This record gives sequence, structure tokens and C-alpha cells, in this order.
Amino acid sequence: YIAAMSGVFCLMIAFVLCLSFALFSADNSGLDELSTDSNILNGIKYNMRKNFDLEHEGCYLQAGKKECLQECGFNATAKTIFIIHGWTMSGMFESWMHKLVSAVMQREQDANVVVVDWLLMAQQLYPDAVNHTHDVGLHIADMLNWLQDEQQLPLQNVHLIGYSLGAHVAGYAGTYVRGTIGRITGLDPAGPMFEGVEEQKRLSPDDADFVDVLHTYTREALGVSIGIQQPIGDIDIYPNGGEVQPGCALGDVLAVAGNFMEVMKCEHERAVHLFVDSLMNKDHMSFAYQCTGPDRFKKGICLSCRKNRCNNIGYNARKMRKRRNSKMYLKTRADTPFGGYHYQMKMHVFNRKQSDNADPTFHVKLYGAHNDTGNIFVDVHDNTVGLNLTNTFLVFTEADIGDLLKIRLNWEGDSESWTSVWKNIKKNFWAWNAKPPKPVLEIRRIRVKAGETQKKFTFCAQDTSKTEISPGDSITFVKCRDGWEVKPRKRYET
Ligand SMILES: *[C@@H]1O[C@H](CO)[C@@H](O)[C@H](O)[C@H]1NC(C)=O
Ligand SMILES: *[C@@H]1O[C@H](CO)[C@@H](O)[C@H](O)[C@H]1NC(C)=O
Ligand SMILES: *[C@@H]1O[C@H](CO)[C@@H](O)[C@H](O)[C@H]1NC(C)=O
Ligand SMILES: *[C@@H]1O[C@H](CO)[C@@H](O)[C@H](O)[C@H]1NC(C)=O
Repeated sequence: YIAAMSGVFCLMIAFVLCLSFALFSADNSGLDELSTDSNILNGIKYNMRKNFDLEHEGCYLQAGKKECLQECGFNATAKTIFIIHGWTMSGMFESWMHKLVSAVMQREQDANVVVVDWLLMAQQLYPDAVNHTHDVGLHIADMLNWLQDEQQLPLQNVHLIGYSLGAHVAGYAGTYVRGTIGRITGLDPAGPMFEGVEEQKRLSPDDADFVDVLHTYTREALGVSIGIQQPIGDIDIYPNGGEVQPGCALGDVLAVAGNFMEVMKCEHERAVHLFVDSLMNKDHMSFAYQCTGPDRFKKGICLSCRKNRCNNIGYNARKMRKRRNSKMYLKTRADTPFGGYHYQMKMHVFNRKQSDNADPTFHVKLYGAHNDTGNIFVDVHDNTVGLNLTNTFLVFTEADIGDLLKIRLNWEGDSESWTSVWKNIKKNFWAWNAKPPKPVLEIRRIRVKAGETQKKFTFCAQDTSKTEISPGDSITFVKCRDGWEVKPRKRYET
């Protein structure tokens, strides 16, 4: 496993080196390009989809050619959705394009769905493709201006969806068009050569009335991250912290694809699949929650929906009043439907019996009206459970278990896992013979807030005389009231 990991790491280095090589060699190749730029620009095509099947040609829009509009059945009062691809090595549409197009068409049946094909300009060294984003954006702006003149197209009904480099293309289109585009969605906008640059040279909140961004690959290698890390929209959603996407781990992907590039592609492209999911599953919407950072989110601190602090992810995102760079987080499943269920839990851990070195490893099992979960590790995130303190943690379940009825808290026994064996070795290293007394902690209640319903409950020990716990033990809590009790602390501190 470690060998495999370092293999991937080397590959990432190779990738980044290749990228930087491309950066340095940009000047030379750029010169040849310049003379043919107008030809290349002619290569940009606007393929209006009439059929889910991409094999089916569709119909091409051309600025200045009125007859195309009629031929393509362009409906100026319906929504107009442009889908813009990114950098390409193959020069062909990747399979996500088919999925996205058909999901958009199924969801918005009247809409004019247009695939912006700039493959010729995107199949270049990365820096050249980056350079072309400007001209392609301008070209799209021209197309939209013509549609405004010719068809009185309301720009408010226009939605540009751009993946990777395509997100920045959409940004330029928003900059140059006459008026303000309704919405731009950036699907893991490209990072290299855009991270940290001024707003005019990348997608930014001013490029449309509403700019929403999904960030799925913001892990950095040698100072570069494939997806941009910084927030660049009105709302910026970082599924799974924008880092490791479930189902994209080495083993998962290699088993299917057997190619290291696929590992990287899996996380970058995840933004597209989350968006497709939001188009297809509007009955089960996933929420993202505003938070100042991934670590606070992982603690479960940020599950509030008050004052617009949460939003639907993907297509269903609600437009909010301009608030730039609002970072939002959620956890997801590994596959479609990606949405799951978030719970914030708080429990005060009393240490009344001098178990100061207890260092417990807790798991919870949730019992719902429809189903139960397995044992879920309680990740308090500072790594150790605080004694005489209220610990807050996030519990994520993949399945809908229905109303939460019961929680079982389990303290892993000394021999149940390597974590506890290791903890135990550390603890006892200096005292082989002096077997420490069995630690005892006390937990009386767990307060729960469900992110998806925003409901709060208090769970109390089922057997009120059984609130103490030791390694290998468990305590069962049942719902004892709606809401979180607000009572003076004093009662419990004697
Ligand atoms: C054009 O779109 C509007 C709005 O979606 C719809 O009501 C109308 O029926 C469409 N017209 C045609 C000819 O499809
Ligand atoms: C693209 O490259 C050309 C020549 O290399 C340069 O003159 C131009 O400013 C670049 N455009 C952008 C938007 O960076
Ligand atoms: C917790 O409080 C108890 C008294 O209630 C005390 O004996 C113990 O040392 C405290 N432990 C820690 C880690 O603060
Ligand atoms: C309950 O969850 C398990 C997996 O945890 C699943 O196999 C089973 O089908 C679920 N049962 C119901 C009734 O949803």
C-alpha cells in the first residue's frame, strides 16, 4: 500500500513537472499559434442539442446567421444553458459531457442547451489553452450579444456551466458580454495559473448575477493544485473539504481503471458528477453549510441554516444576496446519489474517578425508524476526547435511517483495534507490572442536531442508573426531549 502511495505521489510530481515544463516552453509554441489565431477561433462551435445522444449531430448556432436559430428551434423565452469544457489531451469530449448534457436536457426540457466546442484551442499545451480562455470567453460574449440583438434574449435567463478551464472561459464571457449573465457555475475551476491572480483574469463574483462554484480537487502537490483552492464565487462549496473524494482513493479507482491519471481525474471530475446528481435527484437535495474552514466543519460546528448559512448544492443552489466568497462544506457518499445525512452531536464527558489518562476511542451506532447504521468512529478531531468538557463531533450517515430513535455509544475495548492496542502500549510502557485501574467516565446525555432537518433533540441514558462507561462497554441513549435542554450547569457539577 505504501509503495503504491509513493507511486502515486511520484506520478503527481511527474504531472506537476510536466505542467511546469509546459509553462516554460509556452513562449516558443505561443508564437506559431498567434498567426493562426483567427483560424482557430473559427473552430469554436455552438452545438445546440436536440437529442440526448451526442452521436446525434445536433444543430449549430452561428452569430450573424438568423436561419440557424429557426433551424435549431432556438426559443428565446426559455432558459439558455451553455456547457463549456476544459483543457483536453485527447481533443475529444470526455464521457462526463454526455452525462451532463442529458441531465440538463431532462431537467430543463424547454431550455436551449448548447455545448461550446473549443476543443481545437483546448488541446494545446496547458499554458496555451489557458491563454485561449480569454478569446473563447470573448467569442461567447459576442454570441450572447448577437442573441440579445436578434432575439431580445434576456441575459438573466442565461446560465453558463464551465468545467475546469471552462469555468474561467465562462468568467471572461461574463466580463465581456453586454449586460449581466444570470448565472455561472464553475465546476472545479482550474487552479494552475489562476490561483491568486487578479479577478479580471479568472472567474469571479462579478462575472454574473450569481456565481456558484464546486471545488473537488484542491489538494496541493509542489505548490500546485489542479482545482483552484481560493473561493472565487458568491458561494464556494467544498465537498468533503475539497480534498479526498470518497470512491477516488487509490484502491477504488485503480481497481476499475488501472491508470494513475484516473485517480486525479476522479477527484477533478467529481464536481461534474455532483452537479449531474443535483439535476437528476431533486427530491433528495444535498445541503452545504457555511463554515470558516474544513476543520471546524469536521467538528460538526457548522450545521446551521440560519441566515442563509446553508444552501442546496449544484443546480438547485438558491441565489443569495451578494456575499462574496462564502465557503461551504458537506460530506458526500462515494457514488450517486451522493447526498447523505449530517448530525452534530455534543456530549459532556465527566471524569469523576480520576481517569485522567483515559484517552477513550468512541463509536456510535444510530438506530432510526427505518434502519440502523454500523458503528461510526467518533472523530473529535483534536484526536483526544476532552475530559470534563463538552465534545462536539460530526456524524455522517450514507443511508436515510428515518427519525433518529436511539444512539449506542461504545468505548472500544483495549484489544479491539490497533489504535487501542497502541494507546495501551504507550500508556503502560513505563509501568509493565502496575496494571492501571480500569478507567471510568460518565456521559449522561447526547445533544443532537440534524443538519438536513435542522431539528434538535436531546438523548438521555436509557437506564438512568447506567451512565458510566469503561473500555469494552456501551451506553444506550434514547430520545428524551425535542430541542436542547437549557438548564443551569450547576446541577451536574456536584
Ligand atoms: C418556449 O419556452 C417557453 C418557456 O419555457 C415555453 O412556455 C414555450 O412553450 C416554448 N415555446 C416553444 C415553441 O417551445
Ligand atoms: C496570450 O499570449 C499572447 C502571446 O504569447 C500574449 O500577447 C497575450 O497577451 C496572451 N493573452 C492573455 C489573455 O494572456
Ligand atoms: C475532572 O474533574 C474531576 C472532579 O470532578 C477531577 O478529579 C479530574 O482531575 C478532572 N480531570 C481533568 C482531566 O480535568
Ligand atoms: C438497512 O441498511 C442495510 C445496510 O446498512 C441494508 O443492507 C438494508 O437493505 C437496509 N434496510 C432497509 C429496510 O432499508
